Order: sequence, then C-alpha cells, then structure tokens
Amino acid sequence: VPLTRVGVVGAGLIGSSIGLALRHRGVDVVLRERDPDQLRLALALHAGRPWDGDRVDHAVVAVPPDAVVGELLALQRSGLAATASDVTSVKAGPVEAAAAAGCDMATFCGGHPVAGRERGGAIAARADLFAGRPWVLTPTDVTGAEAVTAATTLAELCGALPVQISPDRHDTAMAVLSHLPQLISSLLAAEAGELPEAELALVGQGFRDVTRLAGSDPRLWAQILTANRREVASAAARLAQRLALVVADLADADDPAPPLSGVIAAGNAGQARLPDKAGLVPHVWARVGVVVRDRPGELARLFTAVADWDINIEDVAVEHSRNAPFGRLELAVAAERGDDLLRHLESAGWTAYRRT
Ligand SMILES: NC(=O)c1ccc[n+]([C@@H]2O[C@H](COP(=O)([O-])OP(=O)(O)OC[C@H]3O[C@@H](n4cnc5c(N)ncnc54)[C@H](O)[C@@H]3O)[C@@H](O)[C@H]2O)c1
Repeated sequence: VPLTRVGVVGAGLIGSSIGLALRHRGVDVVLRERDPDQLRLALALHAGRPWDGDRVDHAVVAVPPDAVVGELLALQRSGLAATASDVTSVKAGPVEAAAAAGCDMATFCGGHPVAGRERGGAIAARADLFAGRPWVLTPTDVTGAEAVTAATTLAELCGALPVQISPDRHDTAMAVLSHLPQLISSLLAAEAGELPEAELALVGQGFRDVTRLAGSDPRLWAQILTANRREVASAAARLAQRLALVVADLADADDPAPPLSGVIAAGNAGQARLPDKAGLVPHVWARVGVVVRDRPGELARLFTAVADWDINIEDVAVEHSRNAPFGRLELAVAAERGDDLLRHLESAGWTAYRRT
C-alpha cells in the first residue's frame, strides 16, 4: 500500500527527520507542531508543509512520551488519518494508556525507530537518521492489518529496517540497550564534573565515548525513564549487584589479585555479540591503527593508497586531540586483509599498528 500523504504530529528531532526522509522519497508531508518556533524551523528545512485539514494515509505522532496519548486522541477525533503510529522510546505503558483513554487501537500501530541523537529539536533533524537502523513495530492482538502495513511502509520509506516484537519485550530490551546506558552516562559525567579543572584537562577519548549520551535533554529523558521505570529499575538492580561484587573484590585487602579479569572478559564476550553498524550479524574485522599528520590531503592520500592496494575499508574511527599535530585513524577491513594492510602501510612509510 503506497503512502502518498503522511501527517507528522510534533516536528522536533524525530518528526522533522521523518518529514525530511519521506520528502526525499516524494511523499507529501504535512506537519502539525504546537511550538511556532519549531514549526517555522521545520518548514524552513523543507521537512513538510503546514497541516491544514488535509486527509492523510497515515499519521505519525512524534511528541514526548507524556503527550502521546493526548495527541493521538485528538488526531483520531479529527478523523483526518486513516491509520496512525508513534515513535515513543517506551511501548507497553503508552499502549495501555492509549487504550484506557479511549483511543481506537485497531487503526494504531506502536513504533520506535531505534535511532536518535543527544540533541533535540528540528534543528538537529537529518534525512538519513533512520538509514539502516531497526524500526521496532509493536502490534498487539487488536492492531488491524492496515495499521501494521502502513507503519511498516513508513519505516521502509525512511530507509529503516522494520522489526516486530511485543511491547513488553521491546521495553525489557530497551531498558538494557538504551535507558540504563543513558543513566550510567549521566552519572559518570556528573562524577567527572566534580573534578578540579586541571584534572579534567586529562580527559581521553574513552571517557568521551562513554559519556556522549550525557548531553541528552533532561525533560525528555525523565519521561522516558519514568515510563519504563519497572524495567529500568530491574536492569539497574542487576548492574548494582555486579558492581557490589567488584567493590567487594577490590576492597578485600587480603586478596593480592582480585578476579577482575573475569569482569573485563565478560564485557569482551558481550561486545563481540553486538551486531555491526551496517547489519544485524556480528562481524569480525581486522582493525589497523594509522598515525595521520594534521595537514591538508593526508586522509585522501591514505584512502587512495588503501584503494590502490585493492583493500576495502569497512569502517573508520577517528581519534584526534585538538593540540596534537597528528591524529589516529582506525581502519576496519576484512579479517583476512588485516596483515596485508599493515604490511603495505609500513612499507609506504606510514606508522601503523594492528589493533585486533
Ligand atoms: N531523541 C531520540 O534520540 C529519540 C529516538 C527515538 C525515539 N524518540 C522518541 O521520539 C519522541 C520525540 O522525541 P524528539 O527527540 O523528537 O523530541 P523533540 O523535543 O525534538 O520533539 C518533540 C516535539 O513535539 C512537540 N509537541 C507537539 N505536541 C506536544 C505536546 N502536546 N506536548 C509536548 N510537546 C509537543 C514539541 O514542541 C517538540 O517540537 C519521544 O517520544 C521520544 O521518546 C526519541
């Protein structure tokens, strides 16, 4: 079923990104947004046109969790949308609340694009935000086929990969994969905020990596964490138990070598099971680090050289500190090409080393 015209309620980060992605695919997008500044911005970015009573094939509600039920009810009462879905980061609670509030659950399919940024608002919107990302759909027994099909098409038009699971399984998984990491990131960054400035200047890339999420919007995240409080609390309790074991090991003055390698090894095992960015199957790549001088053309020179050796770069990570005259690039290549790449780089005069 084609979606010719789609309505977006809430033109912030997610709503405007959906609008941009759909417009690229030739879909007519109409936007409703209560904040005039956000609406102006979304229109200026060409995320859609104002929604003035047009009928739409599907409408997506992209507002903060606490506002979803009210907006969905108002949308359904307007009678303008054949079917609707949402993008809320928590699923079971909002579905129950919507049913209790009298929403029509047959024409509604729950959704959650698992893609986002720590900056909100239309200003942060990107057309490719959902490209290659999972888009969870949580139909229940009462969800009609038409709503599921429309929500699936919406996800596909945005370049995402639709995945169906139950609202409860979604919330349990997100507690571990998204909500707990947000909490830990905030707690870690707050801890560092108490260090004197001279010590803070020693911060490295690892700390930045694990605290990126600490820049998130406090009001939005308070709503997300509260909406999934039971699952987040049990994930946090399991983590606290593991942490308590580590604390006990460290504090045991009689044990000269606490069994900490087990903790790190368990982390290695968990990380190795994560799907890679491009797909859903774990991938083993060789990773080669290269030192790159900070001057125009160095990256082009490196990439051209790698291409000349007929090696495909699967992924790139950059590490660079502001005052250093060089940066480090980590190139991921097919496992069997790692040694070739290292040998070629060294004989061409680059400083390179094998990471994995
Ligand atoms: N930020 C992320 O990374 C991310 C990722 C996936 C899903 N989500 C979900 O997407 C939804 C929107 O998040 P966002 O990041 O786009 O937030 P945002 O603050 O950028 O956008 C939300 C927009 O909704 C508007 N809005 C419309 N009606 C509203 C109402 N009744 N009350 C309050 N605001 C109203 C706000 O003015 C704002 O422009 C949330 O439910 C969130 O759980 C967020």
